[in-house]
Amino acid sequence: MRIVLILLLCLSLCGCQKSTADQLKDLGYSEEDAAYIETLSEALQERFLQEFDDRALYYVMREDFREEKLEDYLRYDGKLDPDKMVELVNKGILNDADLPLYKELYESEFYIPAREELYLKYLKEYDTVRDVLETVNTNRYRELYEGVEVTDLSKGNLILVNKYYQLPSDYEPDDLVDVDPALGRGKLRKEVYEAYERLYADAKDLGYDLKVLSAYRSYNTQYVIYNRYLETDPKEVVDTYSARPGHSEHQSGLCLDVSEPGYSLDDFYLTEASVWLKENCHKYGFIIRYPEDKTEITGYQGEPWQIRYLGIETANDVVQKGITYDEYYACFIDKR
Ligand code: DAL
Repeated sequence: MRIVLILLLCLSLCGCQKSTADQLKDLGYSEEDAAYIETLSEALQERFLQEFDDRALYYVMREDFREEKLEDYLRYDGKLDPDKMVELVNKGILNDADLPLYKELYESEFYIPAREELYLKYLKEYDTVRDVLETVNTNRYRELYEGVEVTDLSKGNLILVNKYYQLPSDYEPDDLVDVDPALGRGKLRKEVYEAYERLYADAKDLGYDLKVLSAYRSYNTQYVIYNRYLETDPKEVVDTYSARPGHSEHQSGLCLDVSEPGYSLDDFYLTEASVWLKENCHKYGFIIRYPEDKTEITGYQGEPWQIRYLGIETANDVVQKGITYDEYYACFIDKR
């Protein structure tokens, strides 16, 4: 009889002491989660035994989880993309003051994942996140002409030619056509010329006469032009208005300089036609390549006369986003 009583007492005591897994299940964890929690450190098990916390469990189950950072993950939970947030917390660089900066950075349509390290490096050096994106995306954190790459010709009409991307010296488009002397002088790629003809005709109907003053230029021609300027201006000044050979869009056959009879390129801004061109050229597939207010990005003084062909869809998109082609190419074409 005494033995039976002792056995009953033992059984009832065991019954009171539920297993960790059962206690976790009572709190709402699934069987699988409970089994997982049992494999964790004692401190974490204690934590999960106190209350149902699926957010904490989410972080604990991540491959990049670091136990000592758990409270930080929970502090910033839901305030940033979780992958980015965990990465920043693990790096020890996320704090309340900078949270809005990171949020703006990661949510921007101009954020390029491959440039992450550079954004983080320059985030504190510039006034705004927009400045950081602009500077990093256009390589302006580097000296002009530093780390020049040969441009990716497979991008066709969308190639980028600037102070960081050059054309091979022997590059010449294979579909150049002559500009009708009634419309100006030079050669352009066929598709570009046809788009320009449409632009010219519509402008003419409105009373404007947008003649081509310069179109395709070979590497050698650009070499001569650039070096001629060097006879009168120092290099750093010439670089603000003339491209070094290999770096001129004119060599691509995709751009042209226009002005009206009686006006030089420098005077073109005085014409009504220049206003019309700025407001309408995208409808024909062109953009103003070097806007007045973007010299910090393009590296060139404003050139209201130079239009670059991209095709209607891309030109519209560039204009709608209000950015230079240097930025557009980085964010939406190249993405490197
Ligand atoms: N004027 C432009 C920048 C060129 O030389 O291509």
